[in-house]
Amino acid sequence: MQRRATITGWGKCAPPVKLTNADLEQLIETSHDWIVERTGIEARGITHVEVTDMAEVAAMHALAAAGLEPADIDLLIVASVTPEITCPSNACFLQERIGAVNAAAFDLNAACSGWVYGTASASSMIESGIAERVLLVGAEKLHYVMDYWDRSTCILFGDGAGAAVFEASTSGDGVLSNDLGADGVAGKTMVFPTLGTRGELQQRDPHIDRLHFEGQAVFKLAVKGMEGSVRRALERAGLSLDDVDLVIPHQANQRIIEAAARRLEVPMDKVMVNIAEHGNTAAASIPMAMTDAVAQGRLFPGAVVVQTAFGGGVTWGSSVMRWGDRVTPLATSDAELPPTDLTVFDLLAPNRAFFAPVHESS
Ligand SMILES: CC(C)(COP(=O)(O)OP(=O)(O)OC[C@H]1O[C@@H](n2cnc3c(N)ncnc32)[C@H](O)[C@@H]1OP(=O)(O)O)[C@@H](O)C(=O)NCCC(=O)NCCS
Repeated sequence: MQRRATITGWGKCAPPVKLTNADLEQLIETSHDWIVERTGIEARGITHVEVTDMAEVAAMHALAAAGLEPADIDLLIVASVTPEITCPSNACFLQERIGAVNAAAFDLNAACSGWVYGTASASSMIESGIAERVLLVGAEKLHYVMDYWDRSTCILFGDGAGAAVFEASTSGDGVLSNDLGADGVAGKTMVFPTLGTRGELQQRDPHIDRLHFEGQAVFKLAVKGMEGSVRRALERAGLSLDDVDLVIPHQANQRIIEAAARRLEVPMDKVMVNIAEHGNTAAASIPMAMTDAVAQGRLFPGAVVVQTAFGGGVTWGSSVMRWGDRVTPLATSDAELPPTDLTVFDLLAPNRAFFAPVHESS
């Protein structure tokens, strides 16, 4: 049987401090009802620690679920659009932190499509024999770049991390196909100039270093992008939409997910959605949703699972996989973030102060 990459462990890290719609009502002119109706989001995690801290917690849960030690990993990929700094990579920080001494390590940036680009990288490295056991992590500190005076963008995004261990399998399970794409011409619809999210915002220009985002244009591109990508990935796997047991889409917006599902004619009971609690966590959203899907018993041995995403660049991608036998973690980890006494308003205060000049002058 062909050598494929199958997921044997999964985990997530959701920051303990939440930004609810009621909190947002205190910061900007908006309402809980408007946000839920337009996006499906009720709360988002706001991290009090750095990207590597969240990545570590998700990674330790995924390794425990797979019954592996960090030293068993031979490739570590961190997908992130919010790395702490440019060099060393987040993947090297994580390698040091967890002691994955035998792993090659690199970062990957495909914005919200980072997880599916990472899945394609992990699976092809395993299929080709370059790697045996890959730890893929999506980790984001998106609140860092959010302008919490701008109601058109700050309602959407949250922080978090998700991880999976991919191992070689010749039992027929694993990643069956990948589809990846990009369109640099449309890239201007979502621009995110800031580099490096470690610490607090400083020594930057709040007029430049802020998310530029054409919401409606992105909405349409995302729906079409994910639909086309899912169809191509399924065709490549020799499967049809009727064969699919669960779609795990990037959690950008409930309406985007529903529109894509409608176009694919996939009923919503076959679509994993957890956006209400986390918002859009970019590269972390699919592994966080996958971890919840396993915990909810929505994945079973042999299930055909489609992951699909769309993001800045613009980029898109999908992977089709047959889930393996593991639906219960082999072990659990007690890894968690350190506690904090800070409130969500404490955590957002630097952003409010940093971006205030943009709104004073407009
Ligand atoms: C951002 C988004 C939620 C806006 O929803 P929309 O239905 O397109 O809303 P519009 O931008 O047309 O705005 C409609 C009105 O609501 C207002 N509005 C915008 N944000 C608001 C908020 N948070 N609260 C209340 N009103 C708001 C607008 O100012 C506008 O008012 P106007 O008609 O008086 O000008 C939606 O476009 C979207 O989700 N886009 C894609 C986002 C995404 O996830 N991208 C990432 C993909 S990886």
